[in-house]
Amino acid sequence: TAKSNTVAQAAGKKYFGSATDNPEFTDAAYLAILSDNTYFGQITPGNSMKWDATEPEQGTFTFSGGDAVVSLAQGNSQLVRGHNCVWYNQLPSWVTSGSWTNATLTAAVQNHCSTLVSHYKGDIYSWDIINEPFNDDGTWRSDVFYNTMGTYFVDVALIAARAADPNAKLYINDYNIEGTGAKATAMMNLVSNLKSRGIPIDGIGLQGHFIVGEVPTTIQTVMEQFVALGVEVAITELDIRMTLPETDALLEQQKTDYQNVITACNAVAGCVGVTIWDYTDKYSWVPSTFSGQGAACPWDANLIKKPAYDGIIAGFSA
Ligand code: G3I
Repeated sequence: TAKSNTVAQAAGKKYFGSATDNPEFTDAAYLAILSDNTYFGQITPGNSMKWDATEPEQGTFTFSGGDAVVSLAQGNSQLVRGHNCVWYNQLPSWVTSGSWTNATLTAAVQNHCSTLVSHYKGDIYSWDIINEPFNDDGTWRSDVFYNTMGTYFVDVALIAARAADPNAKLYINDYNIEGTGAKATAMMNLVSNLKSRGIPIDGIGLQGHFIVGEVPTTIQTVMEQFVALGVEVAITELDIRMTLPETDALLEQQKTDYQNVITACNAVAGCVGVTIWDYTDKYSWVPSTFSGQGAACPWDANLIKKPAYDGIIAGFSA
């Protein structure tokens, strides 16, 4: 049977990849499939490069989890996407409850991005420097960064990251920007503003956390609009959840949905690759967040491929 990364590369993409997380590495059967670079040419650490994991106390950096992911990927000749530098979630308490001024938080963001991206210099294909900056209506998310620094936090993080690793592609990554609408428009406005001011930006990540039967029909349109701004795009966190229990009909719709997402990326030259947010239902984030929902990944909890896998192959083969 065809292999997902092999077909992605045959279609001209840089990779088909998966997120993973360090605790999963003790699962030998899981690790064997993750390590097969005919399936996955790229890995994203699901948690271990986030701020709470890498700078739990101000100025004290711990890279062991991220290092293990990079070392696994390099051993398997797989690319790594760094995830992430600046996000409102999974922050250590010294960030969320510090009494910041514009100047002190600027220095903290600079130091975090600079130290994190420097540590992995040369190891990372692309970095989610800014994660989830917008609300669904396209306004800026109210968080410690925006509330203290305004939109300037984006500049600070991107400039620090570029200096730290000039060869890494710097991305802004968000969800609910995969179809046309206010949030996608906000992302376009931000990226064109950054470009006009010479702030480094190389890519837009479309996360792709979808619901079976509700995948946007305008993914290709949005990708073309983003690419027209002079950046690359990628699907960075794809999964397509359903209300449980799984039925044959839902699994068939899920196959169609996966195929449609992959087909959109395949049709846009500036879409460099697709990453699924872990490959197996065994380790999906969905059930713990959305009660009664799950089965979002292309491999089931027993590591058996579902119809969705064939949808992925078909999408890259179109
Ligand atoms: O590390 C602690 C552990 O010490 C503790 O015992 C355990 C008990 O709950 O929690 C552990 O932390 C969990 C962490 O994952 C590591 O496993 C958190 O509770 C849990 O909330 C966290 O979930 C992660 C989630 O981001 C947090 O927002 C998911 O694994 C991760 O897949 C998910 O990924 C995000 C992307 O970064 C951004 N886009 C959305 C995506 C899905 O939510």
